[in-house]
Amino acid sequence: MQNFSDWLAATALSHLFAGLTWFVPVVQTVHILSIAVVVTTLGMLDFRLLRLSRRGPPLSTMAGNFIPWTWRALGVLLVSGILLIITEPARELMNGAFRLKMLLVLLLVLLTFTCQKATAADPDYWSASPGRRRLGGVLGAASLVLCVSIVAAGRLIAYL
Ligand code: HEM
Repeated sequence: MQNFSDWLAATALSHLFAGLTWFVPVVQTVHILSIAVVVTTLGMLDFRLLRLSRRGPPLSTMAGNFIPWTWRALGVLLVSGILLIITEPARELMNGAFRLKMLLVLLLVLLTFTCQKATAADPDYWSASPGRRRLGGVLGAASLVLCVSIVAAGRLIAYL
């Protein structure tokens, strides 16, 4: 990883991005706005799965409306994150908090995909039985904990 990081830092593209004083602040701003979309869309679904919010459209409608925005925002996070990595490879790739964050992002993607698939196959999947409701609650809690942990790990990158 160290060799790859050194190679990336020596590329013309990395030098170009690092030489532009506005580049990192603009890309980080895009990253932060996309975080807001992910945490808001998943947060509203998780509150419904945890039965902390009960009024409003059914979960399946909310999932149909919100999760496509979660995926779009994750796409922007991936692109903006890669641009930040190209600009400062050693700061990210050799950073324990960054590596932990990427693992947590992968878990969040798998959890969100599972929720979306189950709800698409059966709109009442998470409310069909007491066991399903409990499972939905566990999934909602896990998703919330992952979102908070990813944000904390993302912030920690700058301090390690
Ligand atoms: C999808 C893949 C993602 C990649 C490749 C990625 C990559 C990065 C990188 C390289 C940084 C800059 C760290 C630094 O130099 O200080 C960063 C910052 C950050 N990321 Fe991500 N990220 C991704 C997804 C996410 C997600 C899903 C969240 C939250 C839900 C998130 C939250 C953060 C936070 C809070 C920061 C710190 C922002 C700041 O201090 O200005 N990231 N990310």
